[in-house]
Amino acid sequence: MTTGATFAADWLDLREPFDAAARNPDLAARFIAALPPRPVLIDLGAGGGSLFRWLAPRIGGDQAWLLVDADAGLLEHALAITAAWADVHGFAVRSALDGLTLRTQGGIWRLTTRVADLADLAPLDIGQADAIVCSALLDLVSARWIARLAAATRGPVLACLNVDGHDATCPPHAADRAVTTGFRRDQARDKGFGPALGRHATAAVRAAFTARGFTVVAAPSPWRIPPDAAAMLAALVHGHAVAATLRLPAARGAIAHWQSTRLRQIAAGRLAMRVGHRDVLALPHGDP
Ligand SMILES: C[S@@+](CC[C@H](N)C(=O)[O-])C[C@H]1O[C@@H](n2cnc3c(N)ncnc32)[C@H](O)[C@@H]1O
Repeated sequence: MTTGATFAADWLDLREPFDAAARNPDLAARFIAALPPRPVLIDLGAGGGSLFRWLAPRIGGDQAWLLVDADAGLLEHALAITAAWADVHGFAVRSALDGLTLRTQGGIWRLTTRVADLADLAPLDIGQADAIVCSALLDLVSARWIARLAAATRGPVLACLNVDGHDATCPPHAADRAVTTGFRRDQARDKGFGPALGRHATAAVRAAFTARGFTVVAAPSPWRIPPDAAAMLAALVHGHAVAATLRLPAARGAIAHWQSTRLRQIAAGRLAMRVGHRDVLALPHGDP
């Protein structure tokens, strides 16, 4: 990674249940229907592997996944947490240096990992995979990078949890607009792929993949964070305040007031948030 988007394992773990509840099952079912038997999938920016743990059981049968990420620590975490998850589900687990094999009732699920900077897609041989998946990645990248992904891809693509800007926080606060403005500016920062798309990711996927002859469908997959999810709410409030202060230093005082009010509301069980996302499916022509 060059100018950097780093993600703590703790944060990815904290968001996993919200991600799982948010992902769009109908789009996933259409993606699965387009897979060949025993598919080989590449998960771009796989992080702690939460998409594998959500999607692999839905695919069910024999499958092989390559989890790619720039952060070797996150990929190690992905293997450790997936082995523990497999134990809980009663799957037999065999560990190797670069991956895991899970023997499940549905089939054999093979996971391998690869540390790579996705800024350069060429070494990954994307076109050799049966399908490409990713989650919470495409809002970090640029339109140019998505065009390169579309040019390299042959099979179906499922890109989950791309922010869409349809956020809501209840109750409202006078500084919400300043925080959103600063946060969005920070989202657009170059994270090593060119100017980041943020909430425009879905439109860029639609344009790039349609131009390559894919059929593109999108569906909402928002996080709905209730007042009792204090740790998740606090993490979001902190993340928004830090990013907004960085981009709008003149509004530092208003943002600090926003943050302390929001933290008091969390402690009192009076804050709820919705963070808008879209899942996007791109199917090569001929797929259902
Ligand atoms: C928001 S996290 C999503 C992780 C995971 N897909 C999930 O849904 O939990 C974005 C991931 O992209 C990875 N990433 C960011 N920039 C990258 C790059 N240039 N090359 C490879 N991975 C990158 C990060 O390390 C991180 O794991």
